[in-house]
Amino acid sequence: MSRIALIGSGFVGSSYAYALLNQGLVDELVIIDQNQKKAEGDAMDLNHGMPFGSPMKIWAGTYADCKEADLVVITAGANQKPGETRLDLLNKNIKIFKEIVNNVMENQFDGIFLVATNPVDILAYATWRFSGLSAQRVIGSGTILDTARFRYLIGDKFGIDPRNVHAYIIGEHGDSELPVWSQADIGGRSILRLVEEEPELSRKDLDDIFIQVRDAAYHIIERKGATYYAIAMGLLRLTRAVLRNENSILTVSGLLKGEYGLEDIYIGVPAVVNKYGIREVIEIDLNDEEKSSLTQSYNKLKQAMDPFF
Ligand code: 2OP
Repeated sequence: MSRIALIGSGFVGSSYAYALLNQGLVDELVIIDQNQKKAEGDAMDLNHGMPFGSPMKIWAGTYADCKEADLVVITAGANQKPGETRLDLLNKNIKIFKEIVNNVMENQFDGIFLVATNPVDILAYATWRFSGLSAQRVIGSGTILDTARFRYLIGDKFGIDPRNVHAYIIGEHGDSELPVWSQADIGGRSILRLVEEEPELSRKDLDDIFIQVRDAAYHIIERKGATYYAIAMGLLRLTRAVLRNENSILTVSGLLKGEYGLEDIYIGVPAVVNKYGIREVIEIDLNDEEKSSLTQSYNKLKQAMDPFF
């Protein structure tokens, strides 16, 4: 019997719940929201889709239901308004997180946390610190979505299925993130080499792709107020890696303990994810420019979190 407790049934949370129902990944989903009526309405609406999806139990619950949860997924908190950065949300959301994580832990939770609320790197770190769990058991969604955007745009440019594009965005899930072009390949062929060989493509095309990735959320928020479908699918991907013990390599926000020469931070890096959470952080080879950009991203996050820890 597997159970997910979803905390926060806003755009991201309810999209994730909908995706879960469609994928039949879990036996039980409890939805917890400070707006109890919204949680109830979502549970009712989702339950009515059950005959078209797969059998599972969905209800609007309380923190007491976290006791038996394998995974607590947190999507609660304020989201960006047009013009706001993710880091601008820190003051508001860290207070909310202290309360949420305390409530979950008071109910003898003994599973894995998956954090999606922004600024996700700092809130994943906060969840780790507030919960007292081992860092392995706290996963931030990190740059999973940025990496997906990156692979989609590269695939589109080269006319290749994005699932055959191997490329990572690492660093802050935010303005200081960076692309790891030096290790990016399509079907085993280096993208940097492909660009050199293809007269119609140049380094500028690659730089444009990265800018589109980095600024994607701003463009979507400007158009429809929030982003939710793709991040919900990213959370589902992580859920599958955990519940099915997949040992998948995904770019998540995990605790660094000296990898990349950095420590005491949650930041987006490729990591092996399985039923224990983050099995290990993978230290990929970076060139000097990439190393320096990752260090700058680290410094930016450290500066923002400094007043709180
Ligand atoms: C996103 O990147 C806003 O973090 C959210 O879509």
